[in-house]
Amino acid sequence: MQSVNLGLIGLGTVGGGVARLIMKHHDKYLEHYGIDLVIKRACSRDQAEAERIGLAEGVFTPDWHDVVNDPDIHIVIELVGGEHPATEIFEESFKNGKHVVSANKALLGRHVEHLASLAAECGVQIRCEAAAAGGIPVVHALEHDLVGNDILTIAGIMNGTTNYILSRMQHEGLSFEEVLSAAQAAGYAEADPTADVDGFDAASKIAILSSIGFQTRVTTDDVFMQGIRNVSATDIEMAREFGYTIKLLAIARKTDAGIDVRVHPTMIPNSHQLASVDGAMNAVFVVGDAVGETMLYGAGAGSFPTASAVVGDIMALADPIAKGGAPLPEQEPFGRNMPIRPIDE
Ligand code: HSE
Repeated sequence: MQSVNLGLIGLGTVGGGVARLIMKHHDKYLEHYGIDLVIKRACSRDQAEAERIGLAEGVFTPDWHDVVNDPDIHIVIELVGGEHPATEIFEESFKNGKHVVSANKALLGRHVEHLASLAAECGVQIRCEAAAAGGIPVVHALEHDLVGNDILTIAGIMNGTTNYILSRMQHEGLSFEEVLSAAQAAGYAEADPTADVDGFDAASKIAILSSIGFQTRVTTDDVFMQGIRNVSATDIEMAREFGYTIKLLAIARKTDAGIDVRVHPTMIPNSHQLASVDGAMNAVFVVGDAVGETMLYGAGAGSFPTASAVVGDIMALADPIAKGGAPLPEQEPFGRNMPIRPIDE
């Protein structure tokens, strides 16, 4: 049996979770799936992280080039985030014939065209379940389970920070600024909350889900974006009086003019399932022409929820490799066949 060799780049919150899950489930994967997953190299700025996780000696390297250039590695897991060196990690991995698993929503949301084209050219795959709504298995659902549908709508709460802020404003009558400060003090919100509160983070996620669900290539630039900075306690109170809850929704719809993609605060009737998604949780509502309405709910962030999605992607790629390196089925989740409607406020 051929082992499946992994190169992990980034051993922070998510990377550490991934390494721990792989070590925890190694014997189960071997016994039940016939897959021997081996973390061959792991890269981080700090060797102490590798030691804390309990990685074998000799696995650690401070240089990502050691990972992408290792001829024995089949799958690179990019968990450094940001644009650089993540872009170069993708590019070098593809050129060396390695698949890439990533949670990097900002990069994939912005550069899907370049990355998907290069992966296809090199005959390898990108898998990014963790990049949209963290632990919720919505990418797999869109790509596989709902393939018998024309997807009509993908809509949801895809940013935990803003949902946490809006939920507390709703339940405690607080202002946006009050909750944001409390959330930052408690470590829920980033010191620079711009990407969350202004909608960029949700826009990256809906761009990725739209690309997959509608087999097209939506980028963050195609998404109309409005965040929650201007939602006041009065707005929330007025909405409540009329039976609505305000949520930051990311919405992609198939229209006659193409795929319409937007992120903005939305009044949701309290009878709708999305209205009751509270705190930092995420939920994604998908409408297909065959299945009708479906909804997935879960944690959109955090070490193990996000690692759960990454490991699912690793196992999907590992299966054919373990079975003798048979070529992966022709599969390009990011297609090109759907026009994207220009932003129209
Ligand atoms: N900042 C993100 C959120 C983390 O609040 O949902 C997960 O992408």
